[in-house]
Amino acid sequence: MELGFIGTGALTAAIVTGLKSLADNPVSILLSPRNEDIAASLASRYPDVRIASDNQAVLDNSETIMLAVRPQIAHDVLSALRFRRDHRLISLIATLSLKDIESLTVPAGHVTKALPMPMIAHRLGATIIYPPDQGAGALFGRLGKVIEVADAGEFDALSVATATYASYFKYLETIHSWLTRHGVGEGIARDYIASLFKALGAAPETSPDADFRHLAQDYATRGGINEQVLRELTAHNMFEAFAESLDGIHRRITGDTK
Ligand SMILES: NC(=O)c1ccc[n+]([C@@H]2O[C@H](COP(=O)([O-])OP(=O)(O)OC[C@H]3O[C@@H](n4cnc5c(N)ncnc54)[C@H](OP(=O)(O)O)[C@@H]3O)[C@@H](O)[C@H]2O)c1
Repeated sequence: MELGFIGTGALTAAIVTGLKSLADNPVSILLSPRNEDIAASLASRYPDVRIASDNQAVLDNSETIMLAVRPQIAHDVLSALRFRRDHRLISLIATLSLKDIESLTVPAGHVTKALPMPMIAHRLGATIIYPPDQGAGALFGRLGKVIEVADAGEFDALSVATATYASYFKYLETIHSWLTRHGVGEGIARDYIASLFKALGAAPETSPDADFRHLAQDYATRGGINEQVLRELTAHNMFEAFAESLDGIHRRITGDTK
């Protein structure tokens, strides 16, 4: 039996690339034919990655299947398929609840939600899993950190954090364009920012007893330049606006339209 994927897009490509970068990864992979170019590229790179004739053929030849289509089409795609009771489904569809997926995939007996990040292609980052599942945990555990939660609300809240990547890069881009406007070469600015934020990213591990509030305080020397930027951004309500945006994503993920 192969590991099947319904939806061969950016995330599927990242997972397959991560899996195939393992020295001892015997798993054979069966992809749905869309996206045609991505599926063809993966199948040409790895001998044990095949493209099925259609979505149903993925189900018919796999026991564990990752559901990786966009939420907007998930209902139409999944309701057209015939699932089996012994299917083990791992839904990567961020905004569809476990109940939604279960009702669209009857009689499949086992559904788990997983939320990896694109860096899984390089076996970096973390995947959140709900509810805890040995198979999904073992699979994603080979590709980075795994955080399993037994509570749907906790999973939804953790999912909100995955909406912050683009803003993070915009933050870095703001620093980068400021530096280049002030005479720093593009490459030097990029290298410097990448090194700074890699080191800052390591701070929670190197200072395991410090929470994020304390790390912010530690780096904001009284009367210093970090304190000034933090104070000015706080005065502009930047962090409040950010938290409000997270609230909006949470409402979207949980379907709370109030
Ligand atoms: N990207 C991420 O970092 C990320 C992280 C966590 C969760 N997710 C979730 O993972 C899912 C996939 O995301 P993605 O970024 O990989 O999206 P994506 O790049 O748009 O990939 C989805 C793929 O589904 C294909 N597709 C369209 N209609 C189909 C059909 N009828 N049957 C089978 N496949 C079909 C599309 O092919 P065409 O190009 O031919 O239309 C597309 O390549 C989404 O639900 C998203 O919420 C993504």
